[in-house]
Amino acid sequence: MLASLARKCVSSSLNQVRLLHRTSVKASDKLFVHRDTNDNSADTPFKFNDENLKRCETIISNYPANHKAAACIPLLDLAQRQNDGWLPISAMHAVADMLNMPKMRVYEVATFYTMFNREPVGKYHVQICTTTPCMLGGVGCAPILEAIEKNLGIKPGHTTEDKMFTLSEVECLGACVNAPMVQINDNYYEDLTVKDMEEILNDLKAGRVPKAGPRNGRFASEPLAGLTSLTEPPTGPGFGVRSDL
Ligand code: FES
Repeated sequence: MLASLARKCVSSSLNQVRLLHRTSVKASDKLFVHRDTNDNSADTPFKFNDENLKRCETIISNYPANHKAAACIPLLDLAQRQNDGWLPISAMHAVADMLNMPKMRVYEVATFYTMFNREPVGKYHVQICTTTPCMLGGVGCAPILEAIEKNLGIKPGHTTEDKMFTLSEVECLGACVNAPMVQINDNYYEDLTVKDMEEILNDLKAGRVPKAGPRNGRFASEPLAGLTSLTEPPTGPGFGVRSDL
């Protein structure tokens, strides 16, 4: 009797527990495993161009010869930039070969970091942060996401038919003080309102790249009403040190 009660309790509490190892894939719009497609297989052509080969050599030379694997992330990034913003499995193989790493080690890196796109993306990759500070800051990320979806006619995880825009929902991009914000390719657009977001997308559609940064007049993340501390010119690290030393 007691044993059956205990079993019931365990099974009902298990039902309420979010099993992370099962839900991560479900909650994401990306596959965590590779499936060969016409665009993405070990036979997809990828070769670093001459310019990037030189960059690879420079990056690798930053690390001791027996720690070449440390160059994995910058090399994957370089491969992705060369390949229109996404990383086919053949590019991972090229990096693995160059660094003498087992291919699996490179897959582990490329699947762990969401900055690596393992499927083709549009010319503009719009990544909207929907983590808590961006939910709460300014107008919040919800109306911004809605404005993007309405303007582009797509949901997160999708690309427009003309291959111009891909929309992704991401976690904190480290600009919480300027919430809400989006990253589009390498640019951050911050302190957004719905109007700003529409302007940014319309500019991109018209072939103009809007100026990156805060949209509310701030230079960076200083108080909007002006500085309240550290208002005097800095004295520098030498202040108070005898000049004859
Ligand atoms: S929570 Fe959005 S940038 Fe940090």
